[in-house]
Amino acid sequence: MKTKLLKPTESVLKKASRLIRRGSLVAFPTETVYGLGGNALLGSSSQKIFEAKGRPSDNPLIVHIAEIDEAFSLSSDLPGNFFKLAEKFWPGPLTMIVPKSDIVPFETTGGLDTVAIRMPNNETALDLIRLSGVPIAAPSANSSGKPSPTKAEHVFEDLAGKIPIIIDAGNCNYGVESTVISLVGEPIILRPGAVTKEMIEEVIGPVQISDAVTSPLKEGEKVQSPGMKYKHYAPNCEVFIFEGNSEEFSEFLASIKNKDGVYALCFDEEINNLPVPYLTFGTVNDEFKQASLLFSRLREFDELGASVVYVHSPSREGIGLAVYNRLLRASGFKIIEANRKKIIGLCGQSGSGKTTLSKIFEENDFFVINADLVARKVSDTDKAIKLLSENFGEEIIENGVLNRKALGNIVFNNKGKLELLNKTLLPLISEEILKAIDKADRKFILLDAPTLFESGMNNVCHLVIGVIAPFDLLKERIMKRDSLTEEEAISRLSSQKSDQFFKDNCDIIIENNNDISAFESKAYELLNSIKEK
Ligand code: TXA
Ligand code: MG
Repeated sequence: MKTKLLKPTESVLKKASRLIRRGSLVAFPTETVYGLGGNALLGSSSQKIFEAKGRPSDNPLIVHIAEIDEAFSLSSDLPGNFFKLAEKFWPGPLTMIVPKSDIVPFETTGGLDTVAIRMPNNETALDLIRLSGVPIAAPSANSSGKPSPTKAEHVFEDLAGKIPIIIDAGNCNYGVESTVISLVGEPIILRPGAVTKEMIEEVIGPVQISDAVTSPLKEGEKVQSPGMKYKHYAPNCEVFIFEGNSEEFSEFLASIKNKDGVYALCFDEEINNLPVPYLTFGTVNDEFKQASLLFSRLREFDELGASVVYVHSPSREGIGLAVYNRLLRASGFKIIEANRKKIIGLCGQSGSGKTTLSKIFEENDFFVINADLVARKVSDTDKAIKLLSENFGEEIIENGVLNRKALGNIVFNNKGKLELLNKTLLPLISEEILKAIDKADRKFILLDAPTLFESGMNNVCHLVIGVIAPFDLLKERIMKRDSLTEEEAISRLSSQKSDQFFKDNCDIIIENNNDISAFESKAYELLNSIKEK
């Protein structure tokens, strides 16, 4: 299918509205972000939306209307607060969740018996809804998981070939999606946006903000808004949030400036002091500007080929809470704090002597986190088991627990499957490791992680140590230690990263050549130099 970018002329809007009525999809601008619209009353249209976005179909869509009265047909049970808020904030960036009526298909609501309704404050959007003569279901018009589109070009990047028309009316005003509030039961904000808690409370009195706005979901916790379950708004590069003042931010960046692909997202005031390449997203106090630029900046980092982006944490005032909430999701809740603990990464091939080194560090004030143990614990959680069985089939689960051997057989010597395994588990493991770092009550932390680089955790380390040893020595050691045949040992070693990889990527290399006392004294020397700094 050829996708046309068209300006919102009368004839374009008429054509688009005919497409919507008949069940096709059209991307259109709103005051928040671009939406991917379909006829909200046709289950088949909503299915097409999920397909085009690659979105899980249990994540419900927002239904857009042009007159308050249209809400009567979408809900049989509109509470008083609905009218108070609609009167005050519509058209505008507020979405209200209310019980749904029978005419709203379950495809649109992701199987829920509630429906999210909003009236956008954008002439093109309102004209399109009116001309269509039906309410328009529209999520943000990005591929699922990517940053939301704030320009028509962003929609084109993600959805070209999948939809017939993108109506191009320039940049969106706000740049973050609408505030979502549930009015089923006590009012609660599920997603922050430009309409803030304070603004809402002036109209209807006290409202809650869901914990999920600023914290990751706990295991097994029931979600109020299915959208909160998923990683979101994420560019291809890895995102970290940095908490601290400008000076601390630039000091932190200086400590890692020689790494490839490192960028910063900072405030306009900070550009003179940054030791790494950067993009800015407005001045410190201009939360509106930050909101309007955030998503397009995240996309720009991908174009620049960034591998890691450190974002200076914005204020959480007003619309700033929405910016912070989107950043938390883009980063997978990875936060780095100033004055943080000193984190030393340790990696190397199996049998190289990492354990010996980590014991020495542990006896000398270091808190040691063993990533293999964390990985083991994580892979036994319900969350991991669910993801693993989705990706590798039910046969790797036995009586509800992971059958490591079965999984091992699948990924062994299969690069694609091994990558899939890493992609599934590493984010969960990283999250656990960051929690462990947070909890550790020591200043010095040694992170013993064979897959330090694969997991991206090297980016939170001040320094990475690589331990290497001659191949024959490694082979002998792991044959003895793990009772392997020579063949098994060789195959295991050759599936790991090479010496050269560690030499190229670690800050410090320690060689372990069978002279244990020489190795130990190198370890002590290193330990002391780290503690002195
Ligand atoms: O600003 C916006 O709201 C944009 C523009 C296009 O209008 N739309 C948008 O839609 O952001 P979407 O699908 O990307 O996000 C909708 C959010 C999701 O987090 C979804 O889970 C939640 O609203 N939601 C929708 N219906 C819901 C319901 N019945 N109950 C709970 N959450 C709901
Ligand atoms: Mg979205």
